[in-house]
Amino acid sequence: MVDILASMKALSLFAACVLSTASYPAIPSDKSTPVQQRLAVKGSNAVSVGWNTYQKLAQPCVEYGTSTTSLTSKQCSISSVTYPTSRTYSNAVTLTGLTPATTYYYKIVSTNSSVEHFLSPRVPGDNTPFSINAIIDLGVYGADGFTIQGDQTKRDIIPTIDPSLNHTTIDRLARTVDDYEFIIHPGDLAYADDWFEKPKNLLDGKNAYEAILEQFYTQLAPIAGRKPYMASPGNHEVACQEIPVLTLACPEGQKNFTDFMNRFGQTMPSSFASTSANQAAKVNANKAAALAKPPFWFSFEYGMVHVAMIDTETDFANAPDQPGGSSGHLNASPFGTANQQLDWLAADLASVDRTITPWLIVGGHRPWYTTKGSSPCDSCQKAFEPLLYKYGVDLAIFGHVHNSQRFLPVNNGVADPAKLNNPKAPMYIVAGGAGNIEGLSSVGGNYSTNVFAYADDFSYASVSFQSANNLKVEFIRSSTGDVLDSSVLYKKHDQQFVVQ
Ligand SMILES: *[C@@H]1O[C@H](CO)[C@@H](O)[C@H](O)[C@H]1NC(C)=O
Ligand SMILES: *[C@@H]1O[C@H](CO)[C@@H](O)[C@H](O)[C@H]1NC(C)=O
Ligand SMILES: *[C@@H]1O[C@H](CO)[C@@H](O)[C@H](O)[C@H]1NC(C)=O
Ligand SMILES: *[C@@H]1O[C@H](CO)[C@@H](O)[C@H](O)[C@H]1NC(C)=O
Repeated sequence: MVDILASMKALSLFAACVLSTASYPAIPSDKSTPVQQRLAVKGSNAVSVGWNTYQKLAQPCVEYGTSTTSLTSKQCSISSVTYPTSRTYSNAVTLTGLTPATTYYYKIVSTNSSVEHFLSPRVPGDNTPFSINAIIDLGVYGADGFTIQGDQTKRDIIPTIDPSLNHTTIDRLARTVDDYEFIIHPGDLAYADDWFEKPKNLLDGKNAYEAILEQFYTQLAPIAGRKPYMASPGNHEVACQEIPVLTLACPEGQKNFTDFMNRFGQTMPSSFASTSANQAAKVNANKAAALAKPPFWFSFEYGMVHVAMIDTETDFANAPDQPGGSSGHLNASPFGTANQQLDWLAADLASVDRTITPWLIVGGHRPWYTTKGSSPCDSCQKAFEPLLYKYGVDLAIFGHVHNSQRFLPVNNGVADPAKLNNPKAPMYIVAGGAGNIEGLSSVGGNYSTNVFAYADDFSYASVSFQSANNLKVEFIRSSTGDVLDSSVLYKKHDQQFVVQ
């Protein structure tokens, strides 16, 4: 009897210990060791390097050059920031004066770091073909992700995926790292706020939230340390938990996009100065640069494309994550003044000179075109769609709904009769099937302008700028690399500034 009681006690103590252990990565004994590396396009001749350390750095520095053996340039900053509940410091340095489209070698200055490399950005106007990937709703893999019970045909059932990383989007992105030049990830990055999905985390949410962030950015580093990784906000970046009652209970540091701002606030660009000879374009680009609010809304140019990343979570009428928004009390503050985001977007889109960057794409988190059964973001549509149409956006990329979808070019619910042959309306896709612990969403009922929908396995989108007139969009099955859907959008791009 006594023995049984004793062992039951020991067992429950053991259970409590197991329950209260968040899966933190090991802290390196050399605390200057860079972890969670991430690059971003910061200007037409500049790349930012972000990384975390388990100690504050007085002066984060990066050495770089065009050969592994002579890292002749060096940039430093004083940006080494943390927040309550975080174990790490986010560091950021911008490498400037880069020769375009050139392989650079870089070493984050530390007593324990190695030399890595990246391709510097193509200048606006370089019409060399290239590809990018769009991954949305990704999340951590391993013990804290990808493995909840439910419809097992719709998720990865392997409890830990290490070290081969196979079956995942991250693995596919790593294997194909030489095939694309940058990644856009408009929101729902680590899914740290889903910590409660794992019973082991239930008594230790505060640490579990941080542990997932540390794991995710560690898993991403082999890719994000090689290719610019352009991130913008989704609902899972806001707080420790999406459910209203828990959001109120979030500790300081786990509300109001804190980690997201710490991590990307210094690394995302604002908007570039215009290289157009047109005076109005210059004025608009300068206005956009002044109104941009990275990492929430910002733009950049790269070769043939101008990319605007919008914030579908806050900063427009009835924005879902603001106080009173449809997300349910996430209570994220507006990050700009009343019309700042929409004024930025109008100026930014108006500044795009198609003789320099023929392609104009917009990335955001919540879609307003999505198959039946998933809820479109009506307030987003109301705020953004008229601007996208007016300034002739070619392609709009969203996620939030966990699957892949492609729509005909469409405006205000009406398909453009030209279809893919020089439409006036933007083509819309959803690339939200990249991964994540919540699993895939059913393809839903057919919405009339939908031409492709897939939710049988994890997937993402690859966008290839083939020429000034042809843009190829492919959906890739992460586990196999198979192309699930392929389409080519043809645009004449015969107007220097589109206003319609
Ligand atoms: C040095 O960095 C590597 C990873 O880059 C890490 O595994 C190792 O523990 C670090 N060494 C020390 C002494 O911290
Ligand atoms: C995934 O990894 C496991 C274990 O290493 C291996 O047996 C399996 O063949 C791999 N699958 C793929 C699709 O690469
Ligand atoms: C959220 O963060 C923004 C930017 O730092 C700040 O202006 C705002 O006051 C914060 N809101 C809350 C509720 O803390
Ligand atoms: C949805 O319906 C439209 C119009 O009937 C059709 O052209 C399209 O192929 C359908 N999409 C899918 C994914 O079945």
